[in-house]
Amino acid sequence: MNYHVLTLFPEMIEQGLHTSILGRAMEKGLINLEAVDIRDYTEDKHRKVDDYPYGGGAGMVMQAEPVFRACEDVQRRIEGEKARVIYVTPQGKTFDQALAQELAREKDLILLCGHYEGIDERVLEEVVTDYVSIGDYVLTGGELPAMVMIDAISRLVPGVLSNEVSAEFETFHDNLLEYPQYSRPEVWRGKAVPPVLLCGNHDRIEDWRREQSILRTRKRRPDLYESYETAQMASISDKKLSKNRLKLIIADKSALTGAEEGCPERPWAGEFLELIRELDLKLVLLPEEDPKRFCKIMERERVGRREALVFTTTVEGVLAAREERLRTVYLPEDETASEPKELIYYRRISDLLEAMAVLRKLAQ
Ligand code: ADE
Repeated sequence: MNYHVLTLFPEMIEQGLHTSILGRAMEKGLINLEAVDIRDYTEDKHRKVDDYPYGGGAGMVMQAEPVFRACEDVQRRIEGEKARVIYVTPQGKTFDQALAQELAREKDLILLCGHYEGIDERVLEEVVTDYVSIGDYVLTGGELPAMVMIDAISRLVPGVLSNEVSAEFETFHDNLLEYPQYSRPEVWRGKAVPPVLLCGNHDRIEDWRREQSILRTRKRRPDLYESYETAQMASISDKKLSKNRLKLIIADKSALTGAEEGCPERPWAGEFLELIRELDLKLVLLPEEDPKRFCKIMERERVGRREALVFTTTVEGVLAAREERLRTVYLPEDETASEPKELIYYRRISDLLEAMAVLRKLAQ
């Protein structure tokens, strides 16, 4: 990836990005950075690049010609197709991880940094392909936003992060925030690491982390959670869904059906049963007199532990399923019921979308 930053402050760009991970990536030749001084392209003997705005008003405006020539010079030196020219401005589309991913696929990027009261509109119309903002606040110039973008884009360029999977599973992957992380000591100032992380079972850990991501996103970023839900719903209706992982749902009668036969107590139970049918899953209701029959049921249905999922409305149900090391969705009958600390595993899923999302993921 080759960045060409058009700026009035080239030293700011050069000094700001040569350290740590990006510095190493530049040494390895994975990314190249060129800070182009717009003043080098003015014909003014005092190297002036700005003037008063037509129509009056505060501040100065960067003139069109030096910007145009700087951009033209860079485009001429770039091999192959013309590069995208990104004007960093609070008036642009908000930069996010999806845009970082899109831009990381480019070979060259030209970033244009403004100062003062902006840049003459005519040159922007001529050269700019994308208007991008890093957020709804106004900074004194475009250099910091350009550096923010270069940092976010560069770490997605293959080879820049030593461990490439880490970019894949982190925050914003799948529209979810990252799960919480813990390191030694196991107990810090009386606070213990969640026990599931010490169990050594990677499937369980992965499920727990997924759950934490979902819960954290819903709490801290309801806007992202909404996109996640929408994406989940879209993929549920994707008929290409593979169906060989989850095979069996074992549920309390009260988890899915109402007190009266055939009358769904939970408002979404009908839709949920439809999804179970659509995913071609088998549903077995636990006999009320023997809520611990998981083993027998699984034997009879010829499914393994990882192919079954338990839906239960009681803490006892969760504990019984847990004893068999079965994955569990806990649908509390009483939202205010207290529950043992160890119920950290898909607990308190109480709405259709989330329960369906869990099903969909496990049925993949
Ligand atoms: N220039 C000044 N403020 C900015 C912002 N928030 N994003 C991008 N460029 C800017």
